[in-house]
Amino acid sequence: MKINQQYYRSIWLHPQDKKVVQIIDQRSLPHAFVIRDVKTVAEGVYAIKEMLVRGAPLIGAMAAYSMYLATLEAHQQQVADVAAFLQQAATNLLASRPTAVNLHWAVQRQQAAIGLAKSIDEKMTVALQTAQDICEEDVEICRMIGVHGLPLLTAISKQKKGDTVNILTHCNAGWIATVDWGTATSPIYQAHEKGIKVHVWVDETRPRNQGARLTAWELAEHGVPHTVIVDNAGGHLMQHGLVDICIVGTDRTTYTGDVANKIGTYLKALAAKDNGVPFYVALPSTTIDWQMRDGLKEIPIEQRRASEVTHIQGLHEGEIKQVQLTPTNSAAANFAFDVTPARLVTGLITERGICAASEQGIASLFPKTTLA
Ligand code: MRU
Repeated sequence: MKINQQYYRSIWLHPQDKKVVQIIDQRSLPHAFVIRDVKTVAEGVYAIKEMLVRGAPLIGAMAAYSMYLATLEAHQQQVADVAAFLQQAATNLLASRPTAVNLHWAVQRQQAAIGLAKSIDEKMTVALQTAQDICEEDVEICRMIGVHGLPLLTAISKQKKGDTVNILTHCNAGWIATVDWGTATSPIYQAHEKGIKVHVWVDETRPRNQGARLTAWELAEHGVPHTVIVDNAGGHLMQHGLVDICIVGTDRTTYTGDVANKIGTYLKALAAKDNGVPFYVALPSTTIDWQMRDGLKEIPIEQRRASEVTHIQGLHEGEIKQVQLTPTNSAAANFAFDVTPARLVTGLITERGICAASEQGIASLFPKTTLA
């Protein structure tokens, strides 16, 4: 998508040096646009852990490129046991963030591809190709999520006789969380391009404010009308008929349709249910966990450091600063995700179409992959 009229993706290979991966450092957005080089698997792990890159599909893409960087390192360092070196790289990547299943999916796909290659030269070539394939596929998948989600917005627009469609979203499931297009934002961008009047309620999404910082920034860059709201406002807006539809992303969806997404998503789904507002989850199939049945019991929920709650980041006199919010001696808990049970989800918007959030619904679109 475009930033300041220039086309970008969220991750790419350095145009002059294919041993370097480049990313947009999302920690400093929207106040500073910083591109960072990632040259080693350790830097890739750091980028995921510290959330220079975040969002399930982009975490997967970063992990895939990091496995490629690991093959380059194995070559440069002339390591004796390449398999052990690459296994350690995979283990470190898998430990970087626990909830987004795309990380596991991408690392496993790389391991399978690299494992078939015999020489280290061949491994480097295959790993680069696989990382690039994963990125290209993600772009197309996200575009198709938009294609399938668009009719939902068109129908509401028609029902409202062309009046503005009000969409509420949580966190950032935008293009910056994927390689391009985004998941929840893809139908919104496509509707906006088609001239359908849309307006997005952007949950700020404490503690890291992905909504206020990233979703608002993306939408502003594209001229999509939007309003940032505090996380507690959604219920009130729904009670007063100011939300036509909720669309959120997900980090891991069980094959039965339970959805793990940014903390606070569950409360929005509850409010939506109580007010008869449709609640959709947009996801690439790479976010479906084919091994997990019960989201509440099985999905690992990341707990991050307390300082993300006790402190808040913002711009002060031209500089990005952290300020303390809470009393110095107050403890803080930082659960990064929650699980919305399938029964609260109106439908899943995938690259193959929209389905019910249920084992049957998912199996109807992805028949071969679903477990019995
Ligand atoms: O902690 P984050 O910022 O990585 O969490 C991101 C989300 O919760 C997104 O909604 C999810 O990854 C979907 S991204 C298309």
